[in-house]
Amino acid sequence: MSLSPAPVTVSVSLPCRPTVKYDILIQAGLLSTVGERLSSLHKPCRILLLTDDVVEALYADTVTASLSNAGFSVVRHVIPHGEASKSGENLLTLLEKMATEQLTRSDLLVSLGGGVVGDLGGFTAAIYQRGIPFIQIPTTLLAMVDASVGGKTAIDLKAGKNLCDAFHQPLLVICDTNCLNTLPPEIFSDGMAEVIKYAMIRDSVLFDLLKNGSPNMENMIRLCVEDKRTLVEEDETDKGVRQLLNLGHTVGHAIEVCSNFTISHGSAVAMGMVIITRAAVKSDICNGDTLAALLDLLNKYNLPTECPFTVEQLFAVAVSDKKRAGGFITLAVPYDVADTRLVTVPIDALENYIRAGLSE
Ligand code: GLY
Repeated sequence: MSLSPAPVTVSVSLPCRPTVKYDILIQAGLLSTVGERLSSLHKPCRILLLTDDVVEALYADTVTASLSNAGFSVVRHVIPHGEASKSGENLLTLLEKMATEQLTRSDLLVSLGGGVVGDLGGFTAAIYQRGIPFIQIPTTLLAMVDASVGGKTAIDLKAGKNLCDAFHQPLLVICDTNCLNTLPPEIFSDGMAEVIKYAMIRDSVLFDLLKNGSPNMENMIRLCVEDKRTLVEEDETDKGVRQLLNLGHTVGHAIEVCSNFTISHGSAVAMGMVIITRAAVKSDICNGDTLAALLDLLNKYNLPTECPFTVEQLFAVAVSDKKRAGGFITLAVPYDVADTRLVTVPIDALENYIRAGLSE
């Protein structure tokens, strides 16, 4: 089968680990070419295809057929959709299945789905037999622009989200933009919160594109992934500039927890970005136009901007944030549109930021 025109390709290479290089491919219709694309990177082998019940019904047959036609032998493993599946129990069940199926280090794991499937699959691949290669095939906008890129993999613990984690970079990331056509509108908006985040961090081209029109999906995803690629290449292990990607996430994570995860990640990040930007305006390090521009964009993409929780509720959770280091926490703070900077503050100062950001 001949491949369609070359997809948009963003290449990631980590200067400190010269053997780690991979492409992120972005194009409509890529799912039916997964097998051929993989065969240029890896000889035929066994593949554990991890997906969830919703995505299985939509796309697993297409991917399985493509892999099988290219000579790969596929074992499918389906988990229920939703965050609860990123559990230790599911991790062990998956590891046991891979062992029972006698997958070896020359075999592969493929994650087909959103962030939950990508995180669980990536983490499993990171620890099975001290690490096997894996492929990310994200099917949500959020997973395409964020979770599938950069090698953060994790499961949740009872004490919190993503607390059991590892860096494990994929061998290939394949984003078929046709998958976005089947997303419920609120799941699409969720991904747009992360897109807006990239624009606020350092991408004025993306910001203008979002503000002035209806962006072409391939182009929009490419811009986000290029932004993330730059940060990951400079700081794979999240000790420096990569922390800019936490814009809206420190308070956003507290909002998710306070809501018992009934408020989605994207909605919480949207509210978190408003809170930190308003706090920056009140501290005179950011102007009011930046906050107004952010609010306009969030409204345009149907994202919430008002947080239903109090400063006390939010701070009680944020104080134990995973991003805290000793008595300090590093916050990503917008100074302007497309100009977010890292600011390290004593943990108590976070309460003042939240208080300032909550009130008009
Ligand atoms: N999702 C944020 C990061 O990959 O660093």
